[in-house]
Amino acid sequence: MLSEQIRNLDNSPIHGPVLSLAPMQDITDLAFMRVVAEYGGGPDYFVTEYFRVHSDSTPEKKILKSITENKTGRPVFAQMIGMDVPSLVKNSNILLDYDVAGMDINLGCPAPTVCRKDAGGGLLRNLDKVNDILGAMREVCSAKGKMFTVKTRIGYETADEFCAILDVFARHEIDALAIHGRTVKDKYQTPVRDEYVKAAVDLMRCPVMANGNVVNVATGRAYHKRTGAAGLMVGRGAIRSPWIFQQIRQSYAGDEVMQPTRRDLRGYVDSLFHEIAKEWVVYDEVKHVNKMKKYMIYIAQGVDAEFEHRIRRARSDQRFFEICDTFMDNDELLPDLPPENSKLFCGFKSFLD
Ligand SMILES: Cc1cc2nc3c(=O)[nH]c(=O)nc-3n(C[C@H](O)[C@H](O)[C@H](O)COP(=O)(O)O)c2cc1C
Repeated sequence: MLSEQIRNLDNSPIHGPVLSLAPMQDITDLAFMRVVAEYGGGPDYFVTEYFRVHSDSTPEKKILKSITENKTGRPVFAQMIGMDVPSLVKNSNILLDYDVAGMDINLGCPAPTVCRKDAGGGLLRNLDKVNDILGAMREVCSAKGKMFTVKTRIGYETADEFCAILDVFARHEIDALAIHGRTVKDKYQTPVRDEYVKAAVDLMRCPVMANGNVVNVATGRAYHKRTGAAGLMVGRGAIRSPWIFQQIRQSYAGDEVMQPTRRDLRGYVDSLFHEIAKEWVVYDEVKHVNKMKKYMIYIAQGVDAEFEHRIRRARSDQRFFEICDTFMDNDELLPDLPPENSKLFCGFKSFLD
């Protein structure tokens, strides 16, 4: 079982659900994994952003670094997106020779360009193909003694499809199933349908990782309680607050839950800025500040609307840090939750009802 394998890694007792960082394209790279791991060890395991797989693809070098140069000590799963079985097998074989815990297949990406090619979430419309992919990937992972995990949504058009999807999953020995409790059509805007995640927990033999809208300890605990899932997979909530993994563990251990301040947030931004900077082959200030903005739009949620507005317009390192200092050079506690009207964090309130 994945949960046991992860727990046994350093023989330390883990309190509460297994925790993982969700794969996020252009976010969950080597630098971000390094930074998140600085905060109480970060998640129990990582999943790479997806490797695009087609007939003549080989694993992208930049994403490969999050495996080959990963010194966090945490297991890393390599995620692929694609629909061509021989290509998925070929790329799995390449990736499994690196130090990965296993392979993960993306059955959830809602991007129209991906779905049009019947990959990612688009695959949920073709369950025969899903069956073929799962069978082939299971075989190649088993042959190399590695784990095989699946990341899915609960349907393409509607959640009524979920039963048939689970039927296909249940035919295969999956080591863990991460479920983002929305349909592909829901994208990111709706509350998460925890009752479907619970149904999967009840029906599947493998551990289920509940994903979607975990933004603080309370939302994580509610999702875990409502579903009985083995673990929680956290994405955007961990960009906004890398403390979230440590806080959830502290809460389950009955320890005092640390509350970060604006100054702590400044330290996190600083660390992110410098770790990401190390990854440029040739440092370009404008490109670097623009890359930081991908993270900052999440980090800004709950800081101040004016902060986000100014950061979006920053063009230089100096201006970037001047803005940070204006809003973060004090010991005020950070709000525990993103703002209720946030366009980037929608529907988390349903866990707090
Ligand atoms: C910017 C961004 C990029 C993402 N890229 C991926 C990806 O590469 N693979 C994947 O399976 N999911 C991807 N996702 C979906 C997340 O893994 C996760 O399922 C989703 O954000 C819901 O979880 P959260 O509410 O904890 O963020 C992405 C999400 C975001 C916001």
